[in-house]
Amino acid sequence: MRAIQIDQFGTPDVLTLVEAPRPEPGPGEVLIRTIATSINPVDDKTREGAIGAGTPPLPMTLGWDLAGVVVDGGDSELRAGERVIAMSHQLSSGRGTWADLVALPTKAVAAAPQAVSLVEAATLPLPGLTAWQTLNWLAVSAGERLLIAGAAGAVGGLALQMARARGVEVDALVSRDTQVAFARDHGAGVVATDPDAFQDRSYDAVFDTFGAFLTETVKDGGRYASIATQAGPVPDLSSRGVRTTVNQVHEDGTGLSALTKLVDDGSLRLRVHSAYGLQDIRAAHQRFLQGNLSGKIAMTF
Ligand SMILES: NC(=O)c1ccc[n+]([C@@H]2O[C@H](COP(=O)([O-])OP(=O)(O)OC[C@H]3O[C@@H](n4cnc5c(N)ncnc54)[C@H](OP(=O)(O)O)[C@@H]3O)[C@@H](O)[C@H]2O)c1
Repeated sequence: MRAIQIDQFGTPDVLTLVEAPRPEPGPGEVLIRTIATSINPVDDKTREGAIGAGTPPLPMTLGWDLAGVVVDGGDSELRAGERVIAMSHQLSSGRGTWADLVALPTKAVAAAPQAVSLVEAATLPLPGLTAWQTLNWLAVSAGERLLIAGAAGAVGGLALQMARARGVEVDALVSRDTQVAFARDHGAGVVATDPDAFQDRSYDAVFDTFGAFLTETVKDGGRYASIATQAGPVPDLSSRGVRTTVNQVHEDGTGLSALTKLVDDGSLRLRVHSAYGLQDIRAAHQRFLQGNLSGKIAMTF
């Protein structure tokens, strides 16, 4: 089967399409034929060698997102031919999804949304679970005020929509004027490119996707979650009674099932910036690196 692997760290030129052995699913695992996947910032950092300790050994297959079709459901209720989505924690397991066939724990897999194509669905797992699990940590509820920093990014854009579906009042820090319309269209109230636009100590919770550390905006007794691992810890706000975390996404089929429902009931709209065939993996990464994206870069098999 085909797989995208690296055997050294570096520019997108180290990405290579290789023939790799077919994975054999073990107990409690399901074998999936990949139809589409997408590129996330972590894939870029892994390829560059920027992750450091904890990176799987070389050569490795990259990729976290997966949308595909069940080949062998093992002892699960999943049947061959069923459309599924999954997130593989590639850094901890070494199991990359950029391969024709991927064996994953059944509990990391969920039915794919019916309302969208598998190419669109492939943009959901990693950013969607990150948004879902972080909103759950923040425990924001209807009527509360949430500030999202990076609200037009992959994670931030999904978090904005999920929070609005929960009845949360969301304000949005975005990076560029072209992102303002996206945030407004998806239900944000105050939308700004200037961090000073947000009132001090007025938010019940802050969801920080890029290490903005807008710690003055959170109310005393509030919650502050960053997902920007490489920006380091959130400053200690315990003297103000603010709980803080740098949240780490984990495999979660139950969470994916909840996301599938949100897509199918129209609460979550997915954004594909462009799709590339597997043989164009280097061009896909070059485009990813150029930035100024209005959605995810998908790859099709
Ligand atoms: N901890 C975890 O488990 C976990 C899970 C998933 C992702 N992450 C990390 O979370 C980060 C976001 O991931 P993502 O997939 O959402 O990336 P993304 O799609 O690139 O989104 C990041 C967003 O933040 C915006 N931004 C960056 N700097 C900004 C600034 N100074 N002011 C305003 N907006 C700014 C970007 O704007 P531009 O488009 O203009 O650059 C972009 O819209 C990445 O570093 C990723 O590695 C962590």
